[in-house]
Amino acid sequence: MSFVYLWQNREKTHTFSWFWLKQWAKRILSFTQLVTVLKTKFLLKIKGSRIGSLSIISNKSRIEGCLEKLTIGDCTFIGQAYLAIHADIRIGSCVVINDGVKLLTASHNVDDPSWSSFAKPIIIDDYAWIATDAIILPGIHIGKGAIVGAGAVVTKNIPEYNIAVGNPAKLLDKQRTQELKYNPVQLIACYEAWLGKYC
Ligand SMILES: CC(C)(COP(=O)(O)OP(=O)(O)OC[C@H]1O[C@@H](n2cnc3c(N)ncnc32)[C@H](O)[C@@H]1OP(=O)(O)O)[C@@H](O)C(=O)NCCC(=O)NCCS
Repeated sequence: MSFVYLWQNREKTHTFSWFWLKQWAKRILSFTQLVTVLKTKFLLKIKGSRIGSLSIISNKSRIEGCLEKLTIGDCTFIGQAYLAIHADIRIGSCVVINDGVKLLTASHNVDDPSWSSFAKPIIIDDYAWIATDAIILPGIHIGKGAIVGAGAVVTKNIPEYNIAVGNPAKLLDKQRTQELKYNPVQLIACYEAWLGKYC
């Protein structure tokens, strides 16, 4: 998404009304944040990553490896996470990945005398929430709407709408609602200032 998109889709109101003044004040105050967001996306895209519209990746995230193997859908939020990209990382839309999360796509073969390495993809489906400091190991698939609790170490696939906590992560008995309908980036100040609360 570019600044042109924000401009074309900006929330419009009566010029010089109280709301109009408030809106423009917000746009000016959050402009530095917007430039940072767009710049971070732009830099990832020119290195080959595919990133959908409105997604936000913190400029403090650490994203290393084959950037062309990274795909992110629309309206996804990635905080100060670490992504080690040795195999595909496919993240869907409306996903939240909090600070401190680590996505690890490579490891070493412990049975091999020469300690050979291998890489496996990580797939995270729409509406998944990976909470603070969780670690996702190579080859893991996090299903639609699934939650990985803070600090969990995920060693097995998490089925859709399930909640997994702990180390190693285990499924809770309860599940998440299947009627998920939210946009996790809608309240990020620099978007809200242009698109309104419900973009
Ligand atoms: C995973 C999570 C969403 C579950 O929330 P919840 O459904 O309200 O869970 P509950 O509090 O009912 O706990 C259910 C069980 O899981 C355990 N549990 C919950 N979160 C856990 C976690 N992160 N690690 C280990 N165990 C956890 C509880 O101790 C409880 O165990 P019990 O049934 O044996 O007593 C939540 O605990 C969590 O980790 N939130 C992330 C917080 C975060 O990162 N915030 C920053 C971004 S907003």
